[in-house]
Amino acid sequence: MSDWENLILYGDCLDVIRNHHDILSGQVRLIYIDPPFLSGTDYTLKTRSSGDSQTAGTLHEKKTYSDKWEGGLQEYLEFMKVRLKAMKPLLQDDGSLWVHVDWHVSHYVKVILDEIFGYSNFVNEIVWKRTNSPKAQSKGFGSQHDVILLYAIDASKFKTKQVYREHDERSRRPYSYKDETGKFRLIEIEAQGIQRTEDRKQFEWRGRTAPYLYRKETLDEWGDTGLIYTSKNGRYTKKQYLSDVPGVPVSDLWIDIHPVQGASKEHTGFLTQKPEALLERIIACSTDPNDLVADFFAGSGTTAIVADRMNRRWFTCDSSEAAISLVKKRLDI
Ligand SMILES: C[S@@+](CC[C@H](N)C(=O)[O-])C[C@H]1O[C@@H](n2cnc3c(N)ncnc32)[C@H](O)[C@@H]1O
Repeated sequence: MSDWENLILYGDCLDVIRNHHDILSGQVRLIYIDPPFLSGTDYTLKTRSSGDSQTAGTLHEKKTYSDKWEGGLQEYLEFMKVRLKAMKPLLQDDGSLWVHVDWHVSHYVKVILDEIFGYSNFVNEIVWKRTNSPKAQSKGFGSQHDVILLYAIDASKFKTKQVYREHDERSRRPYSYKDETGKFRLIEIEAQGIQRTEDRKQFEWRGRTAPYLYRKETLDEWGDTGLIYTSKNGRYTKKQYLSDVPGVPVSDLWIDIHPVQGASKEHTGFLTQKPEALLERIIACSTDPNDLVADFFAGSGTTAIVADRMNRRWFTCDSSEAAISLVKKRLDI
């Protein structure tokens, strides 16, 4: 769609979706939403006008949105259900919906999503560690994480690209061997344990007969390029160099993405702002350049900002005027 124009709109997302069905229907590769989640809080945007050498500047606080629901959980779930239903037909056949919530409602929203998308199209419950310092509790435990529920339109057609997190001290530990190329760990190339009891054939390779897991040609290739390690008793293993491993494959537990700190460049003062790194990971693993990404609860606009930077087309809206003007400011439009 070469004539596509990225859009940021003010209004209730239900109206926005209904009014833009013609351009969105079946077109969106990724919907990420971070809606209100029955937290019982009125949220604000806090900004500080620049001071001078003598003063720190004045603090301004503007109301952004209320997450208080007179009708409680029931009203909230009805609000979500109708909007989630409206979002589903917008997705492409290989599209996905990522719903960011927390313990207040995640289990109820999961049941609604199972109803709308089908239980078999549930892909993951991602746990994002959103703070290092949970509030002290008089009973129970302080909450430190949010939940992102991931659904595919059709789980059989949906694929995520492998994403990696940076190595840490623990993941580097197995790479305890070193040669002129660098640090490496050893990978088994012979069948072990339960694999051995299967009807696996043995063959001889470079003087050792064993139930190898790989073909002779593959072993030759590794042997000729210095990738085979020979132990003192003559057993072979494969070297895996730390420098060849892009990082640690990411699981459903996301502990390496930090919340937006007051001092960071991306901090806007919008109280429920999510880190750009979180959206970078979601967009990187579930879309390709030029795909259409939508976020119907824009807030400070993190999704649109990251999608734009990653050369994706985007569509976003919010029912708070303060949020819309902040997104425009962040996008410089
Ligand atoms: C948790 S914030 C989103 C934060 C965002 N992910 C970010 O990184 O800044 C939720 C947003 O949903 C908006 N909102 C609430 N009800 C809405 C509705 N019916 N339609 C559109 N936006 C709505 C609020 O104004 C608020 O900005």
